[in-house]
Amino acid sequence: MALPGIAGFIYIESKGIPKYDVAAPDIEIEVTPEKLQRGEKLASMLCASCHMNRETRSLSGRWMTDAPKEFGKIYVPNITQDETYGIGNWTDGEILYLLRTGIKKDGSYAPPYMAKLPHMADEDIESIIAFLRSDHPMVTPAAVEDYPTEPSFLTKFLCNVEFKPFDMPKGKISMPDTTDQVELGRYLVYNLECYTCHSADFTKLDMMTPENSKGFMGGGNKPLDNDGNPMVTSNITPDKETGIGNWSKEQFVKAVRFGLMENEPALRVPMIPYTQLTDYEAEAIFAYIQTIDPIKNDLKRSMIEE
Ligand code: HEC
Ligand code: HEC
Repeated sequence: MALPGIAGFIYIESKGIPKYDVAAPDIEIEVTPEKLQRGEKLASMLCASCHMNRETRSLSGRWMTDAPKEFGKIYVPNITQDETYGIGNWTDGEILYLLRTGIKKDGSYAPPYMAKLPHMADEDIESIIAFLRSDHPMVTPAAVEDYPTEPSFLTKFLCNVEFKPFDMPKGKISMPDTTDQVELGRYLVYNLECYTCHSADFTKLDMMTPENSKGFMGGGNKPLDNDGNPMVTSNITPDKETGIGNWSKEQFVKAVRFGLMENEPALRVPMIPYTQLTDYEAEAIFAYIQTIDPIKNDLKRSMIEE
């Protein structure tokens, strides 16, 4: 990525975050008890880490103190069903369109730090939307006002130049074959966005073909903990010396589901234990990891004193 000269700088500063046409599909998602359950599980793993407000215990938003400083001062908005402050007046189609493409209801592009789900199966993404509209306490209306975000120049630059909205998928995206552990594991690594943190650099991700992200799963990226301290992400490629090539399946499942490490302190924020995953799903991630290219990248954990 080359930063622009002064003319480009002025152009991007004045243009800000780009806007696009909104072509939200006119749909109404069918709600079933299975979808609500699946949606709760996915939203808890995938949306709550950013949108959860600890005081209201709902997805009513918060300052994203764990966003790398170079992105600016970021506020994560209220996505409860409140009609004034939340997304109570968004249609199913508008939510789907944002999650697939990155384009919000008002046409503006949601910067790279907001999750995008171009690979998620239709059934799973519909489950998330059904859950967002349910009577679960995480999403029932909470009248909490958003603060304005102050995106940095880098964020505006990335939104104008590096990251473009994705197209809506051309056809149906089916659920992974859960009997094929590698396929299921790949699906989870893509959609739970393990690779966004565990690759080399947030600004060098390839979300359409995650394997092409710089240093795919080789760690070294530095998301922040809740106090703003950089936390080096681990190399989780199958490299035997510097990655997890010598780990057992059991050791991996314990680390991913519960943050538990052998002879080392437990994993810390922003690595949030994926307790909602089943052992089988965590094992599938492990099976998929065995198939990716090992990367030599010797990293030390960031051990921050309490
Ligand atoms: C890494 C943090 C992060 C994750 C994970 C995340 N979001 Fe967001 N989300 C944001 C931020 C920050 C914004 C505001 C973007 C902006 O400024 O345009 C946002 C915006 C939104 C909006 C637009 C709200 C509005 O009022 O404009 C919706 C809807 C949304 N997110 C839903 C979700 C859902 C559903 C998930 C889980 C599938 C999710 N988000 C996961 C950070 C996150
Ligand atoms: C928000 C960023 C983030 C996401 C998303 C994330 N991780 Fe992590 N992960 C980290 C950080 C940071 C550490 C190191 C924490 C520490 O040192 O205490 C870590 C540590 C680990 C470790 C320990 C490895 C070692 O050698 O120490 C494993 C295994 C792991 N993550 C797997 C995963 C998997 C699988 C996913 C997706 C399901 C995932 N992570 C998603 C940030 C993340």
